[in-house]
Amino acid sequence: MKKFFITGGEGFIGSHLIEQIIKNGDHVNALVNYNSFGNIGWLENCMNHKNINIFFGDLKDPDTYSKFLVKSDYVINLASLISVPYSYTASKSNLENNILGSHFLYNSCINLKIKKIIHVSSSEVYGTPKKIPINETTIFNPQSPYAASKAGSDHVAKSYFYSYGLPIVIIRPFNNFGPRQSSRAVIPTIIFQALKGNEIKLGNINTQRDFLFVEDTVRGLLSTINCNNNLAGEEINLGTNFCFQIKEILNLISLIINKKLKVKLNKSKLRPKKSEVEILICDYSKAKRILRWEPKYKGKNGMKLALTKTINWYQKNYQNKLLNFKSKKVFFK
Ligand SMILES: NC(=O)c1ccc[n+]([C@@H]2O[C@H](COP(=O)([O-])OP(=O)(O)OC[C@H]3O[C@@H](n4cnc5c(N)ncnc54)[C@H](O)[C@@H]3O)[C@@H](O)[C@H]2O)c1
Repeated sequence: MKKFFITGGEGFIGSHLIEQIIKNGDHVNALVNYNSFGNIGWLENCMNHKNINIFFGDLKDPDTYSKFLVKSDYVINLASLISVPYSYTASKSNLENNILGSHFLYNSCINLKIKKIIHVSSSEVYGTPKKIPINETTIFNPQSPYAASKAGSDHVAKSYFYSYGLPIVIIRPFNNFGPRQSSRAVIPTIIFQALKGNEIKLGNINTQRDFLFVEDTVRGLLSTINCNNNLAGEEINLGTNFCFQIKEILNLISLIINKKLKVKLNKSKLRPKKSEVEILICDYSKAKRILRWEPKYKGKNGMKLALTKTINWYQKNYQNKLLNFKSKKVFFK
């Protein structure tokens, strides 16, 4: 049985990952960000499983988690503040949380017998690239405080590999989507509005993104854990090598739910001009070569299938108190 220590497991990607790990028969110590509501996020589905130990804490405060870290063989660090728009007003929290948080976690791993550490990065670190598709040698060009915080935390991770020999591998997923994603992200925003009415308020619909379905991300992270090669110090992109404009995603959703949709500009969703990332498209050949990983959901057909799964999930859970817009106010635009 593998013993995992996972941060940010109560979130969108982390909860899918933990469910798969438990299904595989392995054990997880899950650090959940302390909050006074006692909310364990998306881990409610598996909270009573014998293979999971959930505890509250903070990445920046090792006292809250070091006793569980000691017992772990594999660490996967997903904890981050993740909203680009929020990072414009809360740049200090983003930088502190994401950079210092990584420092405290990796500093606590020194002298422990951890076999592998996955630092989860983000394609946002690349910004609008000079050349596409983006491979791991592309120079960082963070265009928002969030991107800077992820780039900074990647450097912390790499420096702990160089300085202390920690077995850290940086996995860099491109834009994720799927069931449970926060309604702040663009695909759930479109789905929610489309299920409610015909008018879809959006920011820039011309930007292009390489959208990766969360099931593929989970397989990528677990392929990294199971890979027998020495991956310490490596950086590996996960994406599909396809990109879609936001308006193309809107058209696909319109097609799937069989409803005509009208776009209205929501100025509050626009990034400052120079901060806008125009295009992200992934070269995942390194992941294919080293991890033997490839996305199952790629191209137009893959996107349609994954979007259908995602829409079905939101439709099924729409009445759920957690997701119902009528009972839950959304504060971040
Ligand atoms: N969603 C995407 O499109 C995407 C793409 C690429 C990379 N990523 C990265 O994947 C990771 C997970 O993203 P997600 O989409 O699941 O986000 P999420 O917000 O659903 O999950 C992140 C979790 O981290 C927790 N967290 C934040 N700060 C913490 C702290 N100091 N201590 C403990 N927990 C803390 C949050 O409470 C949250 O539950 C992040 O590192 C993100 O940067 C996400």
